[in-house]
Amino acid sequence: MSNQIQYRFPEGFWWGSAASATQTEGAADIDGKGKNIWDHWYETEPNRFFEGVGPKDTSQFYYKYKEDIKLMKEIGHNSFRMSISWSRLIPNGIGEVNPRAVEFYNNVINEFIENEVEPFVGLFHFDMPMEMQKIGGWANREVVDAYGKYARTCFELFGDRVKKWFTHNEPIVPVEGGYLYDFHYPNEVDFKKAVQVGYHTLLASAKAIKGYRELGQDGKIGIVLNLTPSYPRSQHPADVKASIIADAIFNRSFLDPSVKGEFPAELVQILKEEGFMPVMEDGDLDIIKGNTVDILGVNYYQPRRVKAKESLPNPEAPFMPDRYFDNYVMQGRKMNPHRGWEIYEKGIYDILTNLRENYGNIECFISENGMGVEGEEKFRDENGIIQDDYRMEFIQGHLKWVHKAIEEGSSVKGYHLWTFMDNWSWSNAYKNRYGFVSVNLNKDGERTIKKSGQWIKTVSENNGF
Ligand code: BG6
Repeated sequence: MSNQIQYRFPEGFWWGSAASATQTEGAADIDGKGKNIWDHWYETEPNRFFEGVGPKDTSQFYYKYKEDIKLMKEIGHNSFRMSISWSRLIPNGIGEVNPRAVEFYNNVINEFIENEVEPFVGLFHFDMPMEMQKIGGWANREVVDAYGKYARTCFELFGDRVKKWFTHNEPIVPVEGGYLYDFHYPNEVDFKKAVQVGYHTLLASAKAIKGYRELGQDGKIGIVLNLTPSYPRSQHPADVKASIIADAIFNRSFLDPSVKGEFPAELVQILKEEGFMPVMEDGDLDIIKGNTVDILGVNYYQPRRVKAKESLPNPEAPFMPDRYFDNYVMQGRKMNPHRGWEIYEKGIYDILTNLRENYGNIECFISENGMGVEGEEKFRDENGIIQDDYRMEFIQGHLKWVHKAIEEGSSVKGYHLWTFMDNWSWSNAYKNRYGFVSVNLNKDGERTIKKSGQWIKTVSENNGF
């Protein structure tokens, strides 16, 4: 068997998948959990959510974690990224710790370890406690301190067993969704506030890292960023400039300070020119500089195609980042027909090469990559197995490029798919299915391993394909 392996990965490569608390746990209003912004938004605007399905109706990991972790082991996972729900652990965001949550997360972590699936733990995956949002969420500096205390509580409670921590998942997404483009609560459109929110999120990350190191625990701590390589339409200087700005706003805004401890000059220049610099306090920049990450999680789905603006922006319109560039649709690109996103496998290699050449070859792993499929039930065969050959092809296509980057010296330690089992996804709810395992909501969330789940087991066992 092993001599048929064309793409072999380094020994100890992390094979697994990722998910988040709000998207999987369910049990949104029991055992002392406080509300987060998703619980609140669903209560107030249920029609915002695909088919009216809310965070209570997720795959019930809260009750089924033992079964799910067994399945992870069964399909060859040696690692898995979960997140802790801040509002479950500390219902008001600050203050009392919920003992039922401590018990739950202890049980989950212990179950992972018993099954030899290493738990990687994220502290924040889009789920701001509602009590914190009421005082402004990330726009309010008090929330940075509350988050710091929450992070420390997690390290103290679980850090004896958890050795990989992640401060945030895709921190640009709540900035874009909540304060620019109306797809996350509090759905405001306010660029200045968006900048402050992003800045505080980043500062909170650095402070959490500082807290972790002060405790002297022997694990690694990092951040998970969604990186969307920006490709210019042409080599015309105006297109190239547009792509540099898009990259500075959407990627380097978090990547540079997280890894290098400094903000990109192009971004700072725009913010200064527009009068959008965030409010900072003395000493902040030293904290950011002094507390960069040990490890970076890279989420990659699709690239950004950018061209120079063809018309002057309307000066009356609210300021948006795309004032400096236009996204465009490249002709002839490969598409995921089931989700409408471009599939560009080489993008993952370009990201990894960039990290190697320009970010000190920071230790990293692919923390999310995946293929969403709307209406996936139609691929279920007579034996009840989803025949998702397209997902296997998608994963292989990306892994080949990851392999090439590793051969060239990139420090890539693993590949995690988004996601383990089909799960609830923010306002898209169960529209797009991503898992190795299907979840039948009409049959009490029955789990069935898809073809890709059976296949990834062999990839993981052979450490390649
Ligand atoms: C990722 C997020 O960017 O996209 C996940 O980290 C999310 O939380 C995933 O579920 C898929 O999103 P969608 O909208 O296709 O269901």
